[in-house]
Amino acid sequence: MGKLDGKVAVITGATSGMALAGARLFADEGAHVFITGRRQDALDQAVEQIGRNVTGVQGDSASLDALDRLFDTVKQDKGAIDVLWASAGVGKQNRLGEITEEDFHDAFWLNARGTLFTVQKALPLFNDGGSIFMTGSNASLRGYPNWSVYAGSKAVLPAYARVWVSELRDRKIRVNVLTPGQVASPMLEEVMDEEMKAQFESVIPRREMGRPEEIASAALFLASDDSSYVNGMELVVDGGTTVI
Ligand SMILES: NC(=O)c1ccc[n+]([C@@H]2O[C@H](COP(=O)([O-])OP(=O)(O)OC[C@H]3O[C@@H](n4cnc5c(N)ncnc54)[C@H](OP(=O)(O)O)[C@@H]3O)[C@@H](O)[C@H]2O)c1
Repeated sequence: MGKLDGKVAVITGATSGMALAGARLFADEGAHVFITGRRQDALDQAVEQIGRNVTGVQGDSASLDALDRLFDTVKQDKGAIDVLWASAGVGKQNRLGEITEEDFHDAFWLNARGTLFTVQKALPLFNDGGSIFMTGSNASLRGYPNWSVYAGSKAVLPAYARVWVSELRDRKIRVNVLTPGQVASPMLEEVMDEEMKAQFESVIPRREMGRPEEIASAALFLASDDSSYVNGMELVVDGGTTVI
């Protein structure tokens, strides 16, 4: 028996990295998973990789029209949602003094605004007792030089979660934040040079970056009844980086 048998899950930004690993695991655990991403070719590949119990819906999570299309598709195909993992996010380094309006806009438009509307637009389809979680970042918990814009755009998520726990209490919908540390996702591997990698690894107690599968298993915990008494929390999965 799977931990998500019969459940419907929506995961945004899930054609790569941790969310793709999570989508694969959720499908293996019996859920039907809707995944999104902007690039149709990457979406098709991800759907093929997952293989079963999966529907790909192309769209930009920062676009309210695209979010409407996503949830219209879910409504038509399955009628309801049990699990939402709002994972689509962007981040790049910007040193204070050199931050542009565009840098600020890009990070907050998706991470803070897109995530809020993803949750809001999913709500009418949500079954009572469901689980919502959003991908934060431990960049918002530590003073990493050059990451203030990204850190700020992710720091809003635990604040949203605390308020939404109150607002959704009657529907018994749980809201949490899944906060990874440095994870070697394929897209990060592509842009990361040796110096950046060494810098990341130097702050991790085990001196080795996380793997997408290690975040996926924490996501399964938040999605399933294993976390039935976990609500309004930030689950930090960073190998202990934040505490040392
Ligand atoms: N990797 C890390 O070390 C790390 C650490 C902490 C937090 N995070 C957060 O974890 C999440 C996933 O990161 P990752 O490194 O695992 O992913 P990744 O390998 O960089 O992949 C990002 C995924 O999101 C999709 N995406 C990007 N922008 C999107 C948008 N506007 N609308 C819809 N989909 C979008 C991408 O597909 P398309 O490009 O086709 O849209 C891709 O599927 C992000 O929120 C990130 O900020 C990452």
